[in-house]
Amino acid sequence: MFGCGYLGATHAACMAELGHHVLGVETDAHKLAALRSGQVPFHEPGLPDLLRRGLDSGLLRFTDDYCEAAQFADLHFIAVGTPQKKGEYAADLSHVHSVIDRLAPHLSGRHLLIGKSTVPVGTAADLLVRANAQVDDGHIDVVWNPEFLREGHAIDDTLSPDRIVVGGAAQSCERVAEIYAPILAAGTPLLVTDLPTAELVKVAANSFLATKISFINAISEVCEAAGADVSLLADAIGHDGRIGRRFLNAGLGFGGGCLPKDIRAFMARAGELGADQALTFLREVDSINMRRRTAMVELVSTSCGGDLLGANIAVLGAAFKPDSDDVRDSPALNVAGQLQLRGAAVTVYDPCAMANSRRLFPTLSYAQSVQEACAGADAVLVATEWSQFVEIDPDDLSPIVRRRVVIDGRRCLPGDRWHAAGWVYRALGGTPVRHANTPKSPEPPHFLRDHDVRLDDHVGVV
Ligand code: UDX
Repeated sequence: MFGCGYLGATHAACMAELGHHVLGVETDAHKLAALRSGQVPFHEPGLPDLLRRGLDSGLLRFTDDYCEAAQFADLHFIAVGTPQKKGEYAADLSHVHSVIDRLAPHLSGRHLLIGKSTVPVGTAADLLVRANAQVDDGHIDVVWNPEFLREGHAIDDTLSPDRIVVGGAAQSCERVAEIYAPILAAGTPLLVTDLPTAELVKVAANSFLATKISFINAISEVCEAAGADVSLLADAIGHDGRIGRRFLNAGLGFGGGCLPKDIRAFMARAGELGADQALTFLREVDSINMRRRTAMVELVSTSCGGDLLGANIAVLGAAFKPDSDDVRDSPALNVAGQLQLRGAAVTVYDPCAMANSRRLFPTLSYAQSVQEACAGADAVLVATEWSQFVEIDPDDLSPIVRRRVVIDGRRCLPGDRWHAAGWVYRALGGTPVRHANTPKSPEPPHFLRDHDVRLDDHVGVV
């Protein structure tokens, strides 16, 4: 298993769990030392136990030696990162190329490379040529076996996936199917394709998910303008089996190490292939998503009376999503950074992502607890829907904040509970409001009965 990050370490431990002998190859000395001693160098529920079980059974071990890897196996998974290139949309394939260039010269006989990394379509065909050009005596085949795991659910997604996709020559695909035999025996569908289709499946799936999120966030902008509630709308359209409710949660939008960079790399690759017009909608998907972050900064600003200078803002959440310590392209930290640039004093708390956040945004202030982050706050922004934030008792925070204003960046809080505790509750995507041009409800709109905060027209439509 080449590359032992989120994808590779999980896959290595899961393959050992299936009974295979697995050698993880990791060149980062810190990660390698951690994995060898049974420590997972990132947060993934359940993975530490699986890793230790693999190590204890002797089925799983780790190295940084490519020569050892070449002798150890004839099936080689590639699970290294393909980040966005600096200043470009395209994917950086240097880690994938480096695996081939360091491994292939050590190989003899027949070997199979199984690509799991997310790559631009056409990469596998290039790697086939690149690898075979470096082998003295033997033949290397390449198949692509995209990975659909979500951080926070990585083990389940690997051992009980919705489907397994393998693309390449029929005989090589059969060998991959043998690796997954217990998973397939449990009823997981296997889809065998050609190489480019398998490569495209992954980016198409992620583009669809990103589009679904940006769709609901675009509708959410209309809901705000019309005084409608996007969560109720999502429930209503989600009941249609053709649409489905999953991935229709409006809010701060998507971040992380996959969706943002994958849609950009997809656009870049389509451009190289002369099909750029086909994906212009993804540019809009991306910009709707980025607009959520600026809209959130505006909402916080308005909630603080229109001026962030000197305001104390507590930001609860830094990870790009709950149950993860990943802060890559995190909407929460992006908003925290923008608030700071606008003159606010921002204090961030996250149950799991503090070390990574400090590394990425060293100028923000960090607290050790929700209470510490919220002490003296003019507004509390929930930016990642960790369950411990969803379950906060507003009465616990009331005595320590300067102003009782809560902004629900993920539409995850029980708004009426916060209101009943005397807080002003705000969310992107519309809360129950009475609008000048809509029929008056018998009761005043309860989320907007705030007298501490100046309510201007802008707030009236939030
Ligand atoms: C994603 C894909 O889901 C996975 O199949 C692929 O293998 C890797 O990329 P991941 O990046 O772990 O997985 O996160 P995911 O759970 O998909 O969430 C991505 C982002 O979308 C998060 O920032 C999340 O907060 C956001 N999101 C998700 C929404 O804003 N609304 C939703 O309804 C769902």
